[in-house]
Amino acid sequence: MAEFARLVIDDKEYTLPVIEGSEGEKAIDIRSLRHESGYITFDPGFGNTGTCRSAITYMDGEKGILRYRGIPIEELAEHSTFVETAFLLITGKLPSRDELIRTSVLLNDYSLLHEDMRSFYQNFPRRAHPMGILSAMINALRSFYPELVDIDEELNKTFLRLISKIRTMAAMAYKISRGHRVIYPRPDYSYCANFLNMMFDNPVIPYHMDEDLERALNAFWILHADHEQNCSTTAVRVVGSGKVNIYAAISAGISALWGPLHGGANQAVVLMLEKIIHDGMDLDTVIARAKDKNDDFRLMGFGHRVYKTYDPRAKIMKKMCDIVLSKTRHEDPLLDVARELEERALTDEYFKEKNLYPNVDFYSGIVLRAMGIPTNMFTVMFAIGRLPGWIAQWKEDYADPEMKISRPRQIYTGATLNHYIPLSER
Ligand code: ACO
Repeated sequence: MAEFARLVIDDKEYTLPVIEGSEGEKAIDIRSLRHESGYITFDPGFGNTGTCRSAITYMDGEKGILRYRGIPIEELAEHSTFVETAFLLITGKLPSRDELIRTSVLLNDYSLLHEDMRSFYQNFPRRAHPMGILSAMINALRSFYPELVDIDEELNKTFLRLISKIRTMAAMAYKISRGHRVIYPRPDYSYCANFLNMMFDNPVIPYHMDEDLERALNAFWILHADHEQNCSTTAVRVVGSGKVNIYAAISAGISALWGPLHGGANQAVVLMLEKIIHDGMDLDTVIARAKDKNDDFRLMGFGHRVYKTYDPRAKIMKKMCDIVLSKTRHEDPLLDVARELEERALTDEYFKEKNLYPNVDFYSGIVLRAMGIPTNMFTVMFAIGRLPGWIAQWKEDYADPEMKISRPRQIYTGATLNHYIPLSER
């Protein structure tokens, strides 16, 4: 590997160090560039910019590889639990039996919400989107819990408090939005079973816990737990870089995830499939519209900034679709349309040429629907899953002596010097 890159500007040569990661990824370190040459780099959307060194998640978009702390996502989805995966992401290692028990005990201890927070829910309009509510509630946690101190044990408690409470908050938002009685968390249930129970139990018809659905939810959250420097994680790191409290940084991540080009895509996929069925659109028209440059319609759940092959998470999610649908004896016409749409897109020249493959969101909405999760809660489900990743990334950033406050530069294209004209002369 080259140790330096040489950049020539107007006959002057600059030598820039090259950095290599543990999987052979290479970067040109341009930190001295502006100071030495007066030039900056231009990279809207940061597609070619490394913003940190990270030891959390490795992905190879060309080969369709995703690993957390070196462990392939396929192994974790098959054998791990969401709580164990969260521990792995945040601490860097799989927990011992004792560590796992202690984690579960603390998750139970922290699962209740301060009763004063309940009244917040009553004041949101009934139609408020649960992502807006969740982002506000997570931010509000800061007012109820003391400032973080630089003691590992306190930090760990804060992480577990977040992971536990987000699940209660999400289920509570759903129950209150429907005008139903809130169901409290149960210490005898696992993390996932507790969530399903808080969502669907009611005094008249007790919720029947199904191991396969619990397992599917576990896998869904594991698949979403981290994805290196994506839009919402970058938001968490950028906001966190100002040394704001972790609740505010996570709240920013939730807001970023809300967008339809990011976490909102799972909801957008289902809405798209429903519209196709409702309007009786034929799939040739759908594909033609997605390819038309003058039409802003996109095939939701297709394409990814990094994956230029099948998203490894989408493969697992597709398998889970069959398991969950057969378990719930659910016949979903959306799945038939999704399968046919995928088949057509994968053989279409436009999609092949641009490397557009299904991403995790293409099938995740159908899985969530079959579990009974309402469409407007889909992105909330994603946020619960992504929380351990945001925490791990925030923690890494917080402890990294190399990190600075995020402050990109720009190329100014506005007016040059221009003087103020008094109102009477305009
Ligand atoms: N349907 C049709 N055309 C598409 C699609 C799509 N879903 N995605 C990308 N393209 C086309 C673009 O029009 C563009 O064409 P051009 O080169 O002729 O201009 C080309 O493919 C590259 O697309 P970009 O938008 O430049 O790619 P980028 O990496 O910036 O965007 C993104 C990635 C946002 C995911 C995009 O593929 C998209 O909008 N997909 C649909 C939304 C979606 O599924 N988001 C979920 C992402 S996964 C996640 O966040 C969990």
